[in-house]
Amino acid sequence: MMHTIKDGNRESASGVPFQKSEHDFTLIIFGASGSLAKLKLFPSIYQLHLEKRTPKDFKVIGYARTPLSQEAFIEEFKDAVRAKFKDNTDEKILDAVAKNVSYVSGQYDVKADYADLKKHLAHTEGVNKNRIRLAYLSTPPSVFDAVIRQLGQINFNTTLGKLRLIIEKPFGHNLKTAKYLETVLKRKFDHDQVFLLDHYLGKEPVFNLLSLRYANPILTSLIHGQYIDNIQVNGLESLGTEGRAGYFDSVGSLRDMVQSHLFQILAFLTMDLPTKITSDSIHRAKRKLIESLSIRDIKRSVVRGQYQGYLKEAGVEPESKTETFTSLRLFINEKNWRNVPIYLRTGKKLTQQLTSVVIEFKPQEVQKNNKKLQPNKLIIQLQPFERIEFHLLTKMGGSEIDFVPLNTGKPIYCSGDCLDEHSRLILEAIKGDKMLFLEFPEIYAAWKVIDKITGYFEKNNPPLEGYEPGSYGPKGAAPLLKKGIQWHNTHAS
Ligand code: BG6
Repeated sequence: MMHTIKDGNRESASGVPFQKSEHDFTLIIFGASGSLAKLKLFPSIYQLHLEKRTPKDFKVIGYARTPLSQEAFIEEFKDAVRAKFKDNTDEKILDAVAKNVSYVSGQYDVKADYADLKKHLAHTEGVNKNRIRLAYLSTPPSVFDAVIRQLGQINFNTTLGKLRLIIEKPFGHNLKTAKYLETVLKRKFDHDQVFLLDHYLGKEPVFNLLSLRYANPILTSLIHGQYIDNIQVNGLESLGTEGRAGYFDSVGSLRDMVQSHLFQILAFLTMDLPTKITSDSIHRAKRKLIESLSIRDIKRSVVRGQYQGYLKEAGVEPESKTETFTSLRLFINEKNWRNVPIYLRTGKKLTQQLTSVVIEFKPQEVQKNNKKLQPNKLIIQLQPFERIEFHLLTKMGGSEIDFVPLNTGKPIYCSGDCLDEHSRLILEAIKGDKMLFLEFPEIYAAWKVIDKITGYFEKNNPPLEGYEPGSYGPKGAAPLLKKGIQWHNTHAS
């Protein structure tokens, strides 16, 4: 990693200081005994401290229903960090972080428990009230309502500002419930206090999609419906439901992955580029793009699958019809994009983890010996390895004019201020910058598309194709593509 150290602070090779929390803070994690907190949030706090991004005074308060002693919670916190960083865990740093960690057990809908939490905060924070307080909702969405209402009833503001709420997706289950969530929030919280988190926006490669377009006018002019034959966005996972089957089974991959992560990636790739990058201009452009997504002939545009063995998992309904795989064909209803199919694909327990976008350009009309020339492609892999490939053609040697593929590609390694997504987003929320968070209008636009599809499912009960774990998903996903096109699968390290 290229960086230097100046006045004890780290900075990139070009002299940009690494982001750190500019304010003392208290982070209250609701749902602190759950998997999201353990898998993502506890390791992020540790990473922030390890990387010297934490302020002098920070506190982390876990809140959950499970009765636990302080010692037991701190052990859970430490175990979660060790599970992620394994042998690289710095035990000294971990002990130092753990000194700032404590726990409150309470119900999500009992006012007296929130009053206890407030007392605990006063005791833990001591005299220093000059801090940002954040409440992170990493609970199941079914209790968002209760937590938001209770937090709104007690004054948790500090001298530095009002309590900030970080809410992790999903934002509702459909358009109606998303609107209800906004209504509940609006009753007690200002727009500036609410941070709607889709963790993909904290991933460096995802935001880099937009940055690449800004920095490279050549891409800006090429990413235009007039030149493009089709686009693919892939979000393949090799993991299954990882102890979250109860939640996942009530949601399915269309709502879990497509409504949020894949639509966001697609928006960064294809939305109009605002001339000035501000949080508002980015949100407006994303919203416009998502509002223009349309699905034609749903029956022939969606493939749903469920991996074999899913029904036997704890937390899954024995006859569940929930999809663990979705692929679909959409269009962007804008003049230049109207006939460019957009293919999206996501699924669990597939043969590989791969998040990528593939832009296939319109092929050259010239043909050689009745053979069509291969189209140019731009492949941007986001996970697990970031890489950009251009597929061009070059003439073979000799007097005959014939072509062979010329693939240029370079792995990209984060070379500056690199943090994992939750660490980055926590810092952004402390800063009060909403650029990397969502806004309700784009969420509504996404639900409108999804509701149309789920409405069709409910009415017509389309087939759910089984697939083998470790495969590329149901066979039916292939014919969704135009003739001659294949799903992009491979990735290189
Ligand atoms: C979450 C989904 O939002 O994203 C999970 O709820 C999914 O089902 C996860 O596994 C994927 O995130 P990542 O960072 O592993 O690509």
